[in-house]
Amino acid sequence: MMGDSPRLYADLASWFHLLTAPDEYIEEAAYNAERIAEAAVGPVRTVLELGSGGGNSASHLKRRFEMTLSDVSPEMLAVSRRINPEVEHVQGDMRSLRLAGRQFDGVFVHDAVSYLTSEGDVGAMAETAAFHCRAGGAVLVVPDHVRERFSPPYTEHGGADGPDGRGLRYLMWATDQDPEDSVYVADFVYLLREADGSLRVEQDRHVLGLFPEAAWMGALRDAGFEPTVHADPWGTRVFSGTKRGG
Ligand SMILES: C[S@@+](CC[C@H](N)C(=O)[O-])C[C@H]1O[C@@H](n2cnc3c(N)ncnc32)[C@H](O)[C@@H]1O
Repeated sequence: MMGDSPRLYADLASWFHLLTAPDEYIEEAAYNAERIAEAAVGPVRTVLELGSGGGNSASHLKRRFEMTLSDVSPEMLAVSRRINPEVEHVQGDMRSLRLAGRQFDGVFVHDAVSYLTSEGDVGAMAETAAFHCRAGGAVLVVPDHVRERFSPPYTEHGGADGPDGRGLRYLMWATDQDPEDSVYVADFVYLLREADGSLRVEQDRHVLGLFPEAAWMGALRDAGFEPTVHADPWGTRVFSGTKRGG
């Protein structure tokens, strides 16, 4: 089961691009585009993204592919529409989305997949990807971490100032209370400065999934893909698959 939705994707969604901005995604988007193109048999023109969030990856991928963006959060779809107004957006959960009669050359699932917290949910995501992928098409799944390479605790910090006078700074603290289960926690503190200079502090807990490489590979294989694992340049693992039948 997925935990409660983080506030960053609900009441605090309008701050998302001050926490992480499109420019930070240029290199990773280029890497991911290559993995999608090489996993597919034949050309890749159309790509469905599951969990497209603020549309940061998509703002680069749309130069190469015709993107359709989906996310469970209406607030995040609104954030993405602001930077990708020309792109199709649909609301849906990556575990259950079914766009009737729609198949794509590729299905992309970036860090949003990290919010799946059970192997059953990972299997459901893979089924969604397979449903929307043509034979010979490609899937690319990019979790934040795989179990084998995860070494908590760690922290991150950052943030930016916006053109409207608002600013955000954050501290993230990732911990794994129980190394035997399939979840870890990323606790965030946000310092939010409004345009009038007033400052407030907000707290947000993100509950995230942690699975071994074999679980990702098995889910893709069971859903109808021939999977491959890649060591990406950022030290983690990325999973591509070619839909059987192509
Ligand atoms: C870190 S953001 C994704 C950012 C995105 N990679 C980008 O380029 O902007 C995580 C997103 O996952 C979405 N999400 C979490 N669980 C989901 C689910 N089960 N189905 C679809 N979207 C989900 C959240 O609503 C949120 O928008």
